Amino acid sequence: MVHISSTKEVPLVGAIPKHIAIIMDGNGRWATKRFLPRVAGHVKGVEAVRDVVKACVRRDVKFLTLFAFSSENWRRPAEEVSLLMRLFVTALDKEVKRMHVNGIRLKVVGDLSRFDAKLQQTIQDAEALTAGNPGLTVTICANYGGRWDIVQAFNRLRQDLKADDVVTEDQLAPYLSMAYAPEPDLFIRTGGETRISNFLLWQLAYSELYFTDTFWPDFGADALDESIKSYQARERRFGRTSAQVSDQLK
Ligand code: IPE
Ligand code: IPE
Ligand code: MG
Repeated sequence: MVHISSTKEVPLVGAIPKHIAIIMDGNGRWATKRFLPRVAGHVKGVEAVRDVVKACVRRDVKFLTLFAFSSENWRRPAEEVSLLMRLFVTALDKEVKRMHVNGIRLKVVGDLSRFDAKLQQTIQDAEALTAGNPGLTVTICANYGGRWDIVQAFNRLRQDLKADDVVTEDQLAPYLSMAYAPEPDLFIRTGGETRISNFLLWQLAYSELYFTDTFWPDFGADALDESIKSYQARERRFGRTSAQVSDQLK
């Protein structure tokens, strides 16, 4: 299925965002505030993922994309990195069956080659099991970077080009790692920072941005509703004037 690009044509604007993408930030600070080790924040963060997935299913959101580990997060202390990896495997093992029963399709995108063989296998099995599910598509971005995505897309496209081909946006887009999803309508970052941190650089071109100070482990269905309310109060113009947008709605 080909999705309309926000910079080429005007996508439909719905009351409920079709695709929500989240930078789940603030786990470490959530824990430190409670005199707990940072890992306690990551563990609690997994519970928040469960709550938000459930809330998205109930609200009929079609795509939920979660930034779990960035290509820059390898710079963290080795113990924290290895703990995050273990947590990822445990969470997948534990949650995938439940997701499958609920009709959820799971995808994991990023440079997975850097993960150990067991984790790669767990990911493959989870994706294969849930591939045919018709419900919410949950994408976990792991060892993901927006620049990595654009470069890997270009390198794969290049193999299919002739020498004098000039590359267009529409030609590159299908090679991006999330080509199966429309662009995010709503981008959320928890934890108080107001930056993109190399998340979906290409796909966020026309997303509505929402930043909250709430730490990720405290984010749940109510906080999600707040963000959707903010989204619904906005006017998405995609380059047009406000008058053009209201004419179209008449
Ligand atoms: C986000 O929380 C989770 C990951 C990046 C894996 P952080 O671990 O970045 O939490 P803070 O920003 O230090 O509070
Ligand atoms: C971004 O969080 C990546 C994830 C949530 C996985 P970070 O907390 O690592 O982001 P920066 O480096 O502080 O911007
Ligand atoms: Mg952080």
